[in-house]
Amino acid sequence: IGQNIEYFKSIDSTNTFAKNIAPKSDEGMVIISDEQISGKGRVGREWISKENEGIYFSIILKPDIDIMNASFLTQVAGAAMVSSLEKMGVESTIKWPNDIIVNGKKISGILTEMSAEIDQISYIVVGIGVNLYNQSFEEEIESKATSLKKEGYDIDKKEFLQRFFLEFEDLYKEFLSGDKESTISILRKKSAVLDKEVYIIDRTGKTKVYARDIDENGNLLVEKENGSIETIFTGEISIRGL
Ligand code: BTN
Repeated sequence: IGQNIEYFKSIDSTNTFAKNIAPKSDEGMVIISDEQISGKGRVGREWISKENEGIYFSIILKPDIDIMNASFLTQVAGAAMVSSLEKMGVESTIKWPNDIIVNGKKISGILTEMSAEIDQISYIVVGIGVNLYNQSFEEEIESKATSLKKEGYDIDKKEFLQRFFLEFEDLYKEFLSGDKESTISILRKKSAVLDKEVYIIDRTGKTKVYARDIDENGNLLVEKENGSIETIFTGEISIRGL
């Protein structure tokens, strides 16, 4: 992972570019850009991606796995992120399924997109944005977002990427060999939601639940107010109200 890097000063979105070249690219190819003109967040949101503020990159993967397991790669990326940050002296947690939190605010997000035929994966693009040097954020997200710089950490872009690729590769290889143990253990240890009251937000509204565990597939197990346990599948919902 990251042996082969295509670097841009400016691009619309590293995810969009990666998806376009993925059919003809090798697994492990990485697209990085200094800025993105139309960076994408989850659920159609924008990911503001100015030069000298963050890292914006996408990894092309071609795992031979069932489509059911594809969303686990978001969890692999999240686990790789918190463990590489830890090695650089930064304590962070994961707000399931894919937000990385430092001191109660978001510093990084992951957007996984894929293409599959019938139930066979053609490729997966894991896109990651990290707020490194931002001094301020747009008003709507100012209270919820932060950067490593704002939290007092001076992290070098190159060093961060090298460490991240190493961590990601380790956990990814383990996952390909059929073992999710290390990733799950990081997800549990570094969870920002476990043992807390959280809100599940979906089309029908907001439901208060209690986050109980992360299962062996990376799904969130929640206890409803009536005491029943429900499995929340990765990527299906978002959780707020921490
Ligand atoms: C989120 O909503 O939290 C996910 C944000 C993902 C942003 C990254 S930046 C690199 C890659 N290219 C994009 O357009 N989006 C992802």
